[in-house]
Amino acid sequence: MCGIVGYVGNKKCIPILINGLLKLEYRGYDSAGIATISNNYINIIKCKGRVCNLQNQAEINNLTSTTGIAHTRWATHGIPSKENAHPHMDNLGNFAVVHNGIIENYLELKNFLIDNGYFFYSETDTEVIPNLIHYFYTNDLIDDKMKLLRAVKNTCAKLKGSYALEIISKFNPNTVIAIRKSSPLIIGTNKSEKFIASDIPAILQYTNDFYFLADNEFAVITKNKLDFYDKNLVKQHKNTEKVDINCCSINKSGYKDYMLKEVYEQSTSIQNTFYKFMVDNNISFPYINIDIGSINMIYIVACGTAMHAGLCGKFALESLCNIPTIVDISSEFRYRNPLLNKNSLCIFISQSGETADTIAALELAKSKGATTLAITNVFNSSITRKADYSLYTYSGPEIAVASTKAYTSQITLLVGISIYFSELLANTNTHFLKDEILTLPNKIKQTLQTSSKIKKLAKKLYNKDNIFFLGRGIDYITSMEASLKLKEISYIHSEAFAAGELKHGPIALIDNESYIICTITDSTLIYKVISNIEEVTARGAKTIIITSEELQTSDSEFIIKVPKTNKLLSPILSIIPHQLLAYYIAKEKGLDVDKPRNLAKSVTVE
Ligand code: AGP
Repeated sequence: MCGIVGYVGNKKCIPILINGLLKLEYRGYDSAGIATISNNYINIIKCKGRVCNLQNQAEINNLTSTTGIAHTRWATHGIPSKENAHPHMDNLGNFAVVHNGIIENYLELKNFLIDNGYFFYSETDTEVIPNLIHYFYTNDLIDDKMKLLRAVKNTCAKLKGSYALEIISKFNPNTVIAIRKSSPLIIGTNKSEKFIASDIPAILQYTNDFYFLADNEFAVITKNKLDFYDKNLVKQHKNTEKVDINCCSINKSGYKDYMLKEVYEQSTSIQNTFYKFMVDNNISFPYINIDIGSINMIYIVACGTAMHAGLCGKFALESLCNIPTIVDISSEFRYRNPLLNKNSLCIFISQSGETADTIAALELAKSKGATTLAITNVFNSSITRKADYSLYTYSGPEIAVASTKAYTSQITLLVGISIYFSELLANTNTHFLKDEILTLPNKIKQTLQTSSKIKKLAKKLYNKDNIFFLGRGIDYITSMEASLKLKEISYIHSEAFAAGELKHGPIALIDNESYIICTITDSTLIYKVISNIEEVTARGAKTIIITSEELQTSDSEFIIKVPKTNKLLSPILSIIPHQLLAYYIAKEKGLDVDKPRNLAKSVTVE
């Protein structure tokens, strides 16, 4: 999951490429690099670490070229280093390539190239690509304007795996060639300028008109011309699509970090999401033409936080529609040979819409005849072009690696679609739930008022080595999501337990150094969880409780109240103190909350 940017136009490309990389750093930030062409010579500057290190390279300001490509890396093959940073060139410096994805057969290709006299400077899989282009280019005896494109096409025919590529060549100085397979790539167009990028935020400030490349589609890009070809180099016509995201929404709006901004945006993002499917308490999904009466099994498939939202969706679908619902991790589902047929509905949740495992799982479900429904936060993302139906969480661009507002919007949408399906199944007793959805924005604002208490708690917990989370039923799911938030931005080891499971092993971990955070919003399970709290307190643990209930217990150091709501909606409120706690603990540790180590926002490789 790297970020790539390209430009060809009438301006100096460096500022545009750097700005694009900065907007794509959430996709990876191990190293960065730029390649430009001037006087038929390819200049490359690259460095280890963040894009700002690239900006500080003295020679970068001397580059005046109007054609260039750039890359910010999340290391897959080879350590984060200057040598492994992209762009990569062929041995003679005729071609430069930036790549997002993984070439699975790179070793075989590398050996072929070494046998043909090529050598390699880096440990990356990517470096085989410019050398293969050189190999095919020099062995092509037809010297016409398609020569470079043929060399790129012949190269791609040898590649196995995933790639989004931008290629420049000193033989075609004012041209960028772009091609994608399973990794995202878009082209923005604006009069006599063309912008290429992994994702919309990188180039949104220059245009709202975009081409979305399909898999195995080539684009030959110059400042005034844009030609598209299919995998056999047959010319294709493509239309632009207008994207109505306001580029001003992609900034911190005065918050210290995107994550904090996005936590505080949840009142609005929830509202923007349910206003799209619920008007005057009538729920409709006009584009969803699924015969829910014929569905006898629902799968929800996703990764990470999205999978946790899916676990919440299971509660809603089973209780409102009475259809068995299985939630599975994408990377497991895709290799499990799931039992699917035309009576199966598979729901795929992905904030980015680009997660490789989730997209592969969707393709598997389609191949087995299941109906597929995608839930995503990114307009026209790859997953929406593969699913039978797509629904959007209108939570706005989510930049922080840790997913917060997308999570609560996903749950809202899942409850909404569950109500919709249940009403199609002649269940009329849904008014109470629809009324409750309308109260969420205000209840979220109330919940956010716990932040000062959470900040104090963070000062007590930030130096702990382990923190455990407990819950039962839907509160166990919140505990899982809370644990993921904490570990991914504070690097503190944490684990979530089903409270009833403690006695079956995990309680052996508990001692007087233990800190345990319990979530209790399900009034039917209060006394069970209180008993579990007493069991761990008896062994010296200190407990913190996040609850919507009135509790009779003095065992807890901290009790943080959240507003009461319907059980199916309770994770939307109860997760907020956990999001804030993870944020403030990470800040106490002086960590980069928006860009945690080793992670990236969109996992476009498996
Ligand atoms: C969430 O905080 C994590 N960054 C991660 O688990 C994420 O939810 C997961 O990678 C799935 O991403 P997606 O929703 O874009 O598919």
